[in-house]
Amino acid sequence: MLSYRHAFHAGNYADVLKHIVLCQSLDYLIQKPAPILYIDTHAGAGQYALRSKKSKQTDEYKNGIGALDFSKLPESINSYKKIVQPAFSAGYYPGSPLLAAQMLREQDKLSLFEMHSTDCPLLKQLFEKDRRVRVNDSDGYHSLKALLPAKQARAVVLIDPSYEVKSDFDLVVEAIKNAHQRMATAVIMVWYPIVDRARVEKFIKSICNTGIRDIWRYELAMQEDSDGYGMTGSGMLVINPPWVLAKQMRECLPLLAEQMVSESGYFVVEELVGE
Ligand SMILES: C[S@@+](CC[C@H](N)C(=O)[O-])C[C@H]1O[C@@H](n2cnc3c(N)ncnc32)[C@H](O)[C@@H]1O
Repeated sequence: MLSYRHAFHAGNYADVLKHIVLCQSLDYLIQKPAPILYIDTHAGAGQYALRSKKSKQTDEYKNGIGALDFSKLPESINSYKKIVQPAFSAGYYPGSPLLAAQMLREQDKLSLFEMHSTDCPLLKQLFEKDRRVRVNDSDGYHSLKALLPAKQARAVVLIDPSYEVKSDFDLVVEAIKNAHQRMATAVIMVWYPIVDRARVEKFIKSICNTGIRDIWRYELAMQEDSDGYGMTGSGMLVINPPWVLAKQMRECLPLLAEQMVSESGYFVVEELVGE
């Protein structure tokens, strides 16, 4: 049984990083007309009320979306801003499936996976009228075998587990290998928490050792690394990122850090494996 509910964390600094990377990548890809298949292996509920009881219990969004001054952020992240700013004013935060659905076009398709017995019905309800979207209550890791290579010319995969169980790290590596083997051109994005730096580096190394090329990481940490006192930061690892992404992240991460991060925090933009 799954216990993690994203509603407690929605809009926090980790979501901000993850969703900017997602929106920037989609923003670049939609400039060409060829259809895209978007796969969200761990989709969540799709949207989250920020003044709900759950969100209020942690108030995590206050150090994330709530701390952002959009007027000081670069124009290059306008795609994220355009969707998130009005949503925030209306009291909710859009999750990855909703951001993707709002950015993608008529010719694109979305395949969303969510196994939580409460969140999956919410996700289904949110997209019941959107014919581009298919919501599944099955295991997102396994979906990649069935969906890739995509019928569409291009594919974007977001792998965003909660890492509730340690095996998630190994499952992610296997899922990446599978997805890349089936469709080498797919843009694959993986979110990871920074709790234990040694664990993160082991994880990153095992992905780099797969032989896959063109791998980048973007990290934003609230404070310096510590040994297991909870999450201090998070990262997005991207395989086959649009070429403009590194430049855009180098531009926006210092500004995000200025607004959300303590003095001992930091950010990273790093090419892990070249093209
Ligand atoms: C971090 S949340 C997803 C947040 C979402 N991607 C976003 O950015 O808005 C992770 C979700 O994965 C779900 N989950 C956990 N294991 C799963 C699996 N094997 N397949 C599909 N969903 C799973 C959890 O119920 C949880 O809602």
